[in-house]
Amino acid sequence: MVLEVAGLSKAFGGVHAINDLSFTTRRGEILGVIGPNGSGKTTLFNVITGVMPATAGSVRFRGEAITGLPTDAISRRGLIRTFQSATVFKNETVYENIRRSSIFGCIGKPSWFFRPGVVANGQRRAKETVAELLEFSGLSDVATTVAGTLPYGKQKILGVVIALAQQPTQLLMDEPAAGLNPTETLAMGQLVAQIRDKRSIDVVLVEHDIKMVTSVCDRILALNYGKAIAIDVPAKIVRHPEVIDAYLGVDHE
Ligand SMILES: Nc1ncnc2c1ncn2[C@@H]1O[C@H](COP(=O)(O)OP(=O)(O)OP(=O)(O)O)[C@@H](O)[C@H]1O
Ligand SMILES: [Mg+2]
Repeated sequence: MVLEVAGLSKAFGGVHAINDLSFTTRRGEILGVIGPNGSGKTTLFNVITGVMPATAGSVRFRGEAITGLPTDAISRRGLIRTFQSATVFKNETVYENIRRSSIFGCIGKPSWFFRPGVVANGQRRAKETVAELLEFSGLSDVATTVAGTLPYGKQKILGVVIALAQQPTQLLMDEPAAGLNPTETLAMGQLVAQIRDKRSIDVVLVEHDIKMVTSVCDRILALNYGKAIAIDVPAKIVRHPEVIDAYLGVDHE
């Protein structure tokens, strides 16, 4: 087991965004998370990554309790998230966006920035990381392009690469295909699959594009009002009566 979420709850006043939720993820798995708007998907990521404290319950990552740890302590353990909207430095080049992010991954704790040897070594490794990631993501030919001028699909790929530059072992992806056209969605789906297949990074994928979720995920967790309706393989989830009722509306076979 990689992530172990147990009895997790998060309330905002009277709203139970996450309500006594328990599930685990497996090594080598892409786990999809689906559910209607407001069912708690983003809140789940916020609580797991320490952006917000849980109201109750616990999260373990690779056997270690991480509930209540600050966000940077969690990301240093290799648990990294991406955001629902594209989050890039729009006035910087693609190269600089990735380099910035990889410096943190390669140097480590902020206090180590003052150790000259560590910094030089980190900068060299960051340079190698950027080159490798540009190649991996297919962004090499736009490396010197200012990020804000890229098509939205490429900006969202860059957002994912910025997360990869921090060297995750577990990536939480919040709607990577939101706002993308069908061609861009297909490319994003392939990238998600390659992140697991070629980089051995475990993935939790929140996504509304059901075609992408069912094609790329090993299992899917369906949420409604912050509770788990089901967790199962895609073929079973798309036929699950409660999931169809709450979210899918029709049989997506
Ligand atoms: N910071 C906050 N303060 C108050 N309420 C919040 C906050 N964040 C989320 N909520 C509420 O918690 C519930 C879950 O929201 P969340 O954003 O997690 O849903 P979601 O499943 O990610 O939705 P979407 O598919 O639209 O992205 C909603 O009712 C939302 O209004
Ligand atoms: Mg959301």
